[in-house]
Amino acid sequence: MIKSLSEFEQATAQAKENPDGFWSKVASEFEWKSPWKKTLDYDFSKPEVKWFVGGKLNITESCLDRHLVTQPNKTAILFEPNDPTEAAQHITYKELHKRVCQTANMLKANDAKKGDRICIYMPMVPELAIAVLACARIGAIHSVVFAGFSATALAARINDASCSMLLTADGGFRGAKTIALKKIADEALASCSTVNCCLVLQRTQQEVQWNPIDKWWHEEIEKVGSDCPATEMDSEDPLFVLYTSGSTGKPKGMVHTCGGYMVYTAYTFKNVFQCQPNDVYWCTADIGWITGHSYIVYGPLANGATTVMFEGVPSYPAFDRFWEVCAKHKITHFYTAPTAIRALEKHPTSLVEKHDLSSLKVLGSVGEPINAEAWHWYDEHVGRHNCPIVDTWWQTETGGILISSLAGVTPQKPTFATLPMPGVQAVLLNNEGDEIEGEGEGILAIKHPWPSIARTIWGDHERYKNVYFSAYPGYYFPGDGALRDAEGNFRITGRVDDVVIVSGHNLGTAPIENAINEHPEVVESAVVGFPHDIKGNALCAYVIVRDMGVDSSTIEKEIREEVAKTIGPIAKPDQILVVSGLPKTRSGKIMRRILRKLAAGEHDQLGDISTLLNPEIVEEIKRQNS
Ligand code: WTA
Repeated sequence: MIKSLSEFEQATAQAKENPDGFWSKVASEFEWKSPWKKTLDYDFSKPEVKWFVGGKLNITESCLDRHLVTQPNKTAILFEPNDPTEAAQHITYKELHKRVCQTANMLKANDAKKGDRICIYMPMVPELAIAVLACARIGAIHSVVFAGFSATALAARINDASCSMLLTADGGFRGAKTIALKKIADEALASCSTVNCCLVLQRTQQEVQWNPIDKWWHEEIEKVGSDCPATEMDSEDPLFVLYTSGSTGKPKGMVHTCGGYMVYTAYTFKNVFQCQPNDVYWCTADIGWITGHSYIVYGPLANGATTVMFEGVPSYPAFDRFWEVCAKHKITHFYTAPTAIRALEKHPTSLVEKHDLSSLKVLGSVGEPINAEAWHWYDEHVGRHNCPIVDTWWQTETGGILISSLAGVTPQKPTFATLPMPGVQAVLLNNEGDEIEGEGEGILAIKHPWPSIARTIWGDHERYKNVYFSAYPGYYFPGDGALRDAEGNFRITGRVDDVVIVSGHNLGTAPIENAINEHPEVVESAVVGFPHDIKGNALCAYVIVRDMGVDSSTIEKEIREEVAKTIGPIAKPDQILVVSGLPKTRSGKIMRRILRKLAAGEHDQLGDISTLLNPEIVEEIKRQNS
């Protein structure tokens, strides 16, 4: 573990001078079935990246088996249920190992094999983490789909990866609501021909319909034993696929591989959070997102930490649930999203103060830029000016944290993610693609591969190349803008593409537009983000309808329903404006920049609109907006 600023500087220098030697040393701290022959092979022009070439391993041996010897009775997963009156569960490493092996055997008994894709659509219960690890145990590729997605979105993801199995639950508890997961899964499976087995966990005990391919989890698990040797995997065999939104309608299945992902998530978890043996670490994300994969499951377990899984929401039964849970389990590390902080900040600080948060040592933030107000509220009321805050910048595509301070070790700076991790060569580019030296603002790019960079988009390597490696040849292009101060600290300024981050969820505007365009009355639409107090960004949809005389409130309602149905409730636009036209360039391209300004109410900052095909429409929208 890096313990001082000088050790950090040393690691950074070593990783830059000799990346192979640096990562080879880090990787040797894990369990390998046989060592790698070459540390790194890469060519960004193809693009191709291979780490720990020829190495053989199974990630679950580093996450589970090796801790059986040293700390079998330490809590691996601490489960806090949605309902605070339901008992929390402390699952030890020994027990977790056993349950993962047994679940792996259940998958095998139902014909799952190495390389198969298994879709997981489950609530935040221990069985979700166990299912993920069970897939890894047998070399099946997991594809976790966030349980807030709709049937259409679930089906699209299952079909994209041709999953052969679906793991789900009867339902899920989420605050005061229960979500009928099985029902949504049934709807999805109606259009998925590759799935031939659906294992259903009982969580809510609600009634479900039963289909020929369905099997109860609790019945199947009874039939198998708990001895399951770990399948040997190549470093570069896929570990999982996880979908993220992009600028086009189709979600991108980012593929992560076994060796590099293990090494990098474990290394960053250890150094960013600085967890000590008796600490209790809580990341409030859902395992349906990359944050949950890397920093609830793999990173913490590879380090033998105690990781908390929380089933509920911050507002249930009241807006102090996070703080209540922190006090109850004596949480030392608390890692959440700015959108959650902003939502909680709106409530009286007495809700925080009434709980004993003295166990807290480190706070973290992830998912979007954290604004100054939220940062200071977090620091003052939650951290009591006593906890370093790590603002961690990274992506589904990067697998692990690329830019962040190390808690208590490297300097923090409010609203800045600060410095790149050792081995991460972050640069700023101008529009021409030239590197900016020193202080400045530009496009963030990464020069050299790190071990957990996604290797491809499932089934579409060409798209992978186009999206991430073509705009600025020789660099990985994340799609974010950033500025850098004189000390080299980075502040991420936001997306530079058509992805909007709403409440920490990445939403491509294209799929939402596609959904809206499904409405029979809609001719064309454009969706943009605009600043929102709590969500960070909200969505505004500009919609052209066939008949301007129609009742717009009905259309608005139907549009919201359509979006909820095809993508999920998170993608519903906050604002829908029925307009008679959209500002376009002479080549017919929608000028989203102008729509963004209009949605933000920045009517006087539109710039030159005289080159538009239809400048008059801008005036019309302005009038409508005011
Ligand atoms: C944004 C989440 C500023 C960024 C781990 C990135 C951030 C996208 C931060 C990836 C941060 C994430 N500061 N922006 N600390 N963390 N982002 O794939 O725009 O869900 O490209 O991964 O979130 O979101 P994703």
